[in-house]
Amino acid sequence: LQQGLNPRFLLITNPNNPLGVIYKRDILENAVTWARKRKVHSIFDEIYALSTHEKYGHGFESIIKILDNNLGDDVHLVWSISKDFGASGLRVGVVYSQNETFLVGLSNLNIFSGVSHPIQLVVSELLTDDDFVDLYLDESRARLKQSYLICIEKLEEMVLPFVPVEAGQFVYVDFSSLLPEKTMEWEQKLSQLLIDHGRVILTPGESQRERMPGMFRICYAWVTPDVLKIGMERLSRIVGKIRRMDWSDLNESSLAGVLAVGFDR
Ligand SMILES: Cc1ncc(COP(=O)(O)O)c(C=O)c1O
Repeated sequence: LQQGLNPRFLLITNPNNPLGVIYKRDILENAVTWARKRKVHSIFDEIYALSTHEKYGHGFESIIKILDNNLGDDVHLVWSISKDFGASGLRVGVVYSQNETFLVGLSNLNIFSGVSHPIQLVVSELLTDDDFVDLYLDESRARLKQSYLICIEKLEEMVLPFVPVEAGQFVYVDFSSLLPEKTMEWEQKLSQLLIDHGRVILTPGESQRERMPGMFRICYAWVTPDVLKIGMERLSRIVGKIRRMDWSDLNESSLAGVLAVGFDR
């Protein structure tokens, strides 16, 4: 607003990507009030809603609950099975809105992006099986938490600051102390170094519109705990080398030991 821009809607991702934090009720209420005052719509992306690490403790509340299901014409919700059910390939998403005009428009567009009937059948079987869904989500939460703990144990050992996580599949980490200069070019160099010498791929902050160079998102849920441990150990070895050596000496031979960390075959 201060830059003279005219935002048309407020988008809030809760739980947040890439921070993995859950917004408290009063922040969400204030956000809706803020948007309403300016006559802009609010879109709540709750795609990580069921990937909270604790079942109840962390206090995720859907905007539907907070507004007592009175969303009015200007508050909308999106969710999909991509994250909580690890099924992004099925391309099934949900829009929940009470704005009739918007829904009519959307039903027109749906012709181009409708979910195929066999997939609708599969997903409705899945989501109506309460016993399975409860079992699956409990297991999923426990495994997310286990992998998160593996990840942060190593981050703490490396003394790299991170945002403590309450939900989701990633953790946002500050690698800026490793950059010789705080620029996006050095962030990119670090990113490439990790790929080339550790085969570890992290999401650089720049690709997430981060302004501070050196922030990376680590996704700890993509691989099994065994592989995660290997990835974190490789990361730790590279971090150790960066701290001890000059960047100009970081090369194939000085980092040769890193890829040796792997499965015993
Ligand atoms: C916050 C958020 N919303 C939406 C999406 C899109 O998910 P999909 O199109 O696979 O359902 C993603 C995927 O990365 C995401 O992180």
